[in-house]
Amino acid sequence: MIQETIVITQNSSGVAHIAPMGIHIPYESQDEFIILPFRPSTTLNNLLESKTAVINYCDDVRVFAGCLTGRRDWPLKPAEKINGQVLSCALAHTEVKLVRVEDDETRPKLFCKAVHTANHAPFKGFNRAQYSVLEAAILISRLNMIPLEKIQAEIDYLRIGLEKTAGDRELEAWGWLMAVIENFRLENNQ
Ligand SMILES: Cc1cc2nc3c(=O)[nH]c(=O)nc-3n(C[C@H](O)[C@H](O)[C@H](O)COP(=O)(O)O)c2cc1C
Repeated sequence: MIQETIVITQNSSGVAHIAPMGIHIPYESQDEFIILPFRPSTTLNNLLESKTAVINYCDDVRVFAGCLTGRRDWPLKPAEKINGQVLSCALAHTEVKLVRVEDDETRPKLFCKAVHTANHAPFKGFNRAQYSVLEAAILISRLNMIPLEKIQAEIDYLRIGLEKTAGDRELEAWGWLMAVIENFRLENNQ
């Protein structure tokens, strides 16, 4: 299973780095996580250096869209059992240690084990607009790989769920993502 999370790592100077990552969770595992960053990646470099990370479970999709659109400055608080930072708006978080690396030229696998998990706020149910924002954010991370017409067709579909169910946070995040697509279109005369 893959869970879309916010991974926070730190470099040796203690500078935190926030990145959305799809974390692989082996079937029925409670405490094993595989983080798969595409090279080049600050998350990868930091994790190899510090051997720790914080996986944040977050329903404020502005953090996902924000990181993809140059807005990485989200409020943080210290982790509890490792030297790291937790996203203040996370509903829950897990602090992990790196236990094994399966190297790969494109996308290494970083096997991690939980050392501590904490809940902060209740999960309030699924929301289609949040799904739309997550999918649109993934499309934007692949703007240079997928033809623009295909991206536009998917955005048109995702907008249906967004318009029916969004709150203010989802609309703001969607706006940031659409501005990136519009800029890309103008820059590439498409
Ligand atoms: C929902 C979502 C999931 C993502 N999952 C991954 C992932 O598993 N691996 C990855 O390298 N990038 C993923 N990305 C894109 C990264 O967040 C983005 O490219 C980021 O800058 C990673 O590089 P960094 O470690 O240098 O920050 C994802 C983006 C979104 C919106």
